[in-house]
Amino acid sequence: MQIFLDTAEVEDIRTYAAWGVVDGVTTNPSLIAKSGRVFEEVIEEICSIVDGPISAEVTALDAEGMLAQAEPLAAIHPNVTIKVPLIPEGLKATKVLSGRGIKTNVTLCFSANQALLAAKAGATYVSPFIGRLDDRGELGMQLIEDIVQTYRNYPEFSTQVLVASVRNADHVRQAALLGADVSTIPPKIMDKMVKHDLTDKGLAAFLKDWESAKTAS
Ligand code: E4P
Repeated sequence: MQIFLDTAEVEDIRTYAAWGVVDGVTTNPSLIAKSGRVFEEVIEEICSIVDGPISAEVTALDAEGMLAQAEPLAAIHPNVTIKVPLIPEGLKATKVLSGRGIKTNVTLCFSANQALLAAKAGATYVSPFIGRLDDRGELGMQLIEDIVQTYRNYPEFSTQVLVASVRNADHVRQAALLGADVSTIPPKIMDKMVKHDLTDKGLAAFLKDWESAKTAS
């Protein structure tokens, strides 16, 4: 499974990219606003750090406006992936962008039928938001299972399932077990994924034994 970072904080991106495990980055208007920086500048800087798909979201609500915003974003770097919302106008824009060879990430997906339409429109990625479904008492991970199975039924679909709105490390574990193509992960969850108390205890014991052996000899 590919790992994308779900953030617009470039220092975090530098930190986790240095681990050698980051395949791409997703941003959204809320994350860009939180960074307090100019949209295009952040995207350009992220592209200089991570050599993989970098999602930049349009904010227009009509296909024409989305396409007008997409062109200059796509011109920033070949890795820029245009994020469009899963609404009829977004599907129209996705179809055109995919015809132009521009990568797309169809976002705000909350049903398998929406994911089916995104694939039909030629999306590169579809982003089901599992955490937001969990937040209202539904099973976000069931949606991943449904979409993965739907796409498997139709090998002609090339759209990749990008698990978004990840809230905890167990979401990542389950997404990988289900065969999702990508999980986009907030930085603090990367820390939770790498950490295990037995790793820390084992390492401390190894180092203590090593020091004792050196003192004894
Ligand atoms: C990423 O593409 C999404 O925009 C993001 O994962 C949404 O996460 P949230 O539901 O925690 O805002």
